[in-house]
Amino acid sequence: MDIPNIRLSDGNTIPQIGLGLWKNRLPSHVTRAVEAALKEGYRHFDSAQIYGNERFLGSALQKFGVKREELYITTKLWNGNQWPEDALDSFDKSLEHLKTEYIDLFLVHFPVTETRAMAWRSMEKIHESGRAKSIGVSNYTIRHLEELLANCRVKPVINQVELHVYLQQPELVAFCKKHDIVVEAYSPLAHAHGMDNEVLQAIADKHGKSTAQVMIRWCIEKGLVPLPKSTHADRIKANIEVFDFALDADDMAKIEKLEANLRTCWDPTNVA
Ligand SMILES: NC(=O)c1ccc[n+]([C@@H]2O[C@H](COP(=O)([O-])OP(=O)(O)OC[C@H]3O[C@@H](n4cnc5c(N)ncnc54)[C@H](OP(=O)(O)O)[C@@H]3O)[C@@H](O)[C@H]2O)c1
Repeated sequence: MDIPNIRLSDGNTIPQIGLGLWKNRLPSHVTRAVEAALKEGYRHFDSAQIYGNERFLGSALQKFGVKREELYITTKLWNGNQWPEDALDSFDKSLEHLKTEYIDLFLVHFPVTETRAMAWRSMEKIHESGRAKSIGVSNYTIRHLEELLANCRVKPVINQVELHVYLQQPELVAFCKKHDIVVEAYSPLAHAHGMDNEVLQAIADKHGKSTAQVMIRWCIEKGLVPLPKSTHADRIKANIEVFDFALDADDMAKIEKLEANLRTCWDPTNVA
């Protein structure tokens, strides 16, 4: 399966789908998921310092021997590591755990009020050292992005946020588009909520697909980068089989009405 690449504002590209790794903490499960994913054509893996699985991901990627330049690895600076020395030290540890000389994408995991400005200074230093090819943020609202854009030397190229058919965030997506920031959709399956929805099922039946595939394809139609997570080989395979069909205007209009402001993870709306 050919996976499209999306161009980032720093000139790098990112594969338009990645394997999520949150809550995948057992070495054997990570290895199994990575093996299945590589077999099905995934090259993009989304980890984080707080997931506790960077070292398992690093070992699995090494084990299956795909060339480093063909892989796209993301990790995220944890909230407690946003102070300057911690940011740089924790990044070194991430590199060591992931058994790599560089990270493709390093993200500030959350806009912590007291420390996010200094966290970005560290991100810029890391980027300038060449050890993170691209830098970005996660869970940033428009307000947090405006603040960052007004104060940064290096612009964030990505904002990774919760985004799915039940939380569509059109204003945030439009703002990011205007500022050439690519949006990654975390929890694109709404963390396994509402997958038995009748509207989604009817659209899935029409295309001979599953509701999960419709949810992921909806992200692709919107130009987002979805990061579905699974530890099951059959689901990992199904979740990437979304480039051989398209949703039409009628499907998209029906899905638009599913908006429910459903947050299954963090809600950064009121973070000062
Ligand atoms: N930046 C952040 O703050 C942040 C926050 C949350 C998530 N994320 C990233 O986004 C990734 C995805 O989000 P997520 O893990 O919350 O949720 P998700 O991908 O929306 O949903 C995962 C859930 O759906 C199930 N599932 C996967 N494929 C399926 C299929 N084809 N049919 C039926 N069920 C299926 C999984 O079960 P099984 O595993 O048992 O198959 C799991 O319970 C994370 O792993 C992480 O990389 C980032």
